[in-house]
Amino acid sequence: MEQTVLRDRYGRVVTYLRVSITDRCNLRCFYCLPRDCGLSRSAEQLDFDELTAVVKAGVALGISKIRITGGEPLVRPGVIEFVRTLRSLQGITDLALSTNGTLLGDHAAALKDAGLMRINVSLDSLRPTVFRAISGRNELDRVCAGISAARAAGLHPIKLNVVVMRGVNDDELPAILDFAAQQGAQARFIEYMPLGVGQRWEASYVSRAEILTRIRARLHGEPPRRQPGDTATYYALRNGGEVGVISPVSCRFCDLCNRLRLTADGKLRPCLTSEGEVDLRAAIRPRVSSAALCACFHAALAGRPQTGRYDTTPDRILAGPRPMAAIGG
Ligand code: 5AD
Ligand code: SF4
Repeated sequence: MEQTVLRDRYGRVVTYLRVSITDRCNLRCFYCLPRDCGLSRSAEQLDFDELTAVVKAGVALGISKIRITGGEPLVRPGVIEFVRTLRSLQGITDLALSTNGTLLGDHAAALKDAGLMRINVSLDSLRPTVFRAISGRNELDRVCAGISAARAAGLHPIKLNVVVMRGVNDDELPAILDFAAQQGAQARFIEYMPLGVGQRWEASYVSRAEILTRIRARLHGEPPRRQPGDTATYYALRNGGEVGVISPVSCRFCDLCNRLRLTADGKLRPCLTSEGEVDLRAAIRPRVSSAALCACFHAALAGRPQTGRYDTTPDRILAGPRPMAAIGG
């Protein structure tokens, strides 16, 4: 039988689904969530059987890579069993999870045991006061313990995602590279995107060129490497490792985009930056219809723009349709 593919009208093949299982989070990173926001949509949230049905439908259509995201996915009870279920599905060749790391100390071993293949941990600062200023919580020690637990559990590779922000953490990049090396992890520096709440974006944005300047002394100097479907460009480090730089703002990678997003409340999102969403709930409630789910995937595919657009006017950023936590990182 010929393998089905999800190809959009610009010829891009979608193989990757990011599955947000909750829009809740136990941190309040200022670039992602408003400090006082009360996200309380658990009733609208898909249950794990429904999420599994959506993933299965996607896999039947050609999805092979799944990332579980949030909000913070580890705050949702049942996530370990969900990982186990996904791992048992034929056709998934890559199963990853993105977390803020605060609960990894408790869950890393169970995640590994359930079949999780790899993990990305957000780590924006190694200074407790800065970590707290960004995230609103005093959790740096717990995140560091979580990273160690992930390593001890054998979750490999561990990628440390750092949103680089001027005057906040942009002086810490070499220190973060050292920490990553100590932890056997890979740092990935991410340009701050004018999305969601996007607070202080104009003042805080640091470009890839400047990120590279700030770590120049650590770079080996070889030409960078880029893997198909990966949003990061990798630069060799003098210490033998690599650092990833993700530059969604200065250097768009829409031509390589291979992903769709599923929000926790059951919408397929064609593009991170676009508001056109396809509501899946009618295809799964009161019962799952594979044909209707298939139609939803094709509708989301049809909604994919050739290039995503950020609107960087301050009002537009603040009025953003969903905070990042509700889109799934
Ligand atoms: N710019 C860049 N990355 C962001 N994230 C959330 N909001 C933004 C933004 N405005 C990413 C970060 C964070 C994860 C949850 O999503 O990597 O750690
Ligand atoms: Fe939570 Fe991640 Fe958003 Fe921070 S960036 S508030 S850790 S979802």
